[in-house]
Amino acid sequence: MPLVSGAEFLKAAREGGYGVGGFNTNNLEWTKSILAAAEAKKAPVLIQTSMGAAKYMGGYQVCYDIVKDLIDSMNITVPVALHLDHGDYEDALECIEVGYSSVMFDGSHLPFEENIEKAKDVVAKAHAKGVSVECEVGSIGGEEDGIIGSGELADIEECKQMVATGIDYLACGIGNIHGSYPENWAGLAFDHLQAIAKEVGDIPLVLHGGSGIPLDQIQKAISMGVSKINVNTEAQEVFAAATRKYIEAGKDLEGKGFDPRKLLAPGFTAITELVEQRIEWFGSTNKG
Ligand code: 13P
Repeated sequence: MPLVSGAEFLKAAREGGYGVGGFNTNNLEWTKSILAAAEAKKAPVLIQTSMGAAKYMGGYQVCYDIVKDLIDSMNITVPVALHLDHGDYEDALECIEVGYSSVMFDGSHLPFEENIEKAKDVVAKAHAKGVSVECEVGSIGGEEDGIIGSGELADIEECKQMVATGIDYLACGIGNIHGSYPENWAGLAFDHLQAIAKEVGDIPLVLHGGSGIPLDQIQKAISMGVSKINVNTEAQEVFAAATRKYIEAGKDLEGKGFDPRKLLAPGFTAITELVEQRIEWFGSTNKG
């Protein structure tokens, strides 16, 4: 199956009251793990690369080729979108050219007028090629690949103006942060989410920082208009924990246990299990 844009299946998710995972990848095996989980659950999925991860993997063309070729070689039948996560203007345009089917232009750190102007331009260029666009209003807290946000709540008037640019899904701060949540985290700001959803209509909303949010809060957010949930840190954590367990048990010292195909296998199995569980949480099983 070819890559699909995110707009159609996220619209269906918004209407159907379920969520679709946007899972960050970091390499070939990571991508395989996510695709295997989506196929096992018959769920639509977004595979996303941050700018840093794409650089690490060898560039956007490599990321595109890996995802595209794995979809073919693994006989993936569920809808898959390849998405740029937190891209700047230049990288969003590059990904549109390379063949990504969905891009996030994150201008949340720019003056608002500039964010809007660049969003309009990205939308025009993306839509001309059938690529969907996510933009952000009100930065998401935490740190991701050097992008640091202060975790403010998105301004509702700004959300409306951003949606009017023609974007396909909107990332808006509602007390969520990237990475682990601190002990004293107040939880998602549901009143604010409700106020945003009321003003912006049916556009799918995006919840960044999906790692570490309790199941009940995730499901409540989905019921209020969140359709895309981004997960990165949790996959990194389960990968590291499983790899640590393998090495601490001395398995790399037994026979050919040092072979990366063996050494890394538990970590990638852990990612597949996590992604399958999150798909269940989000309610997108059998929606592919
Ligand atoms: P986490 O790393 O907290 O899961 O957030 C991922 C994310 O929002 C990617 O944009």
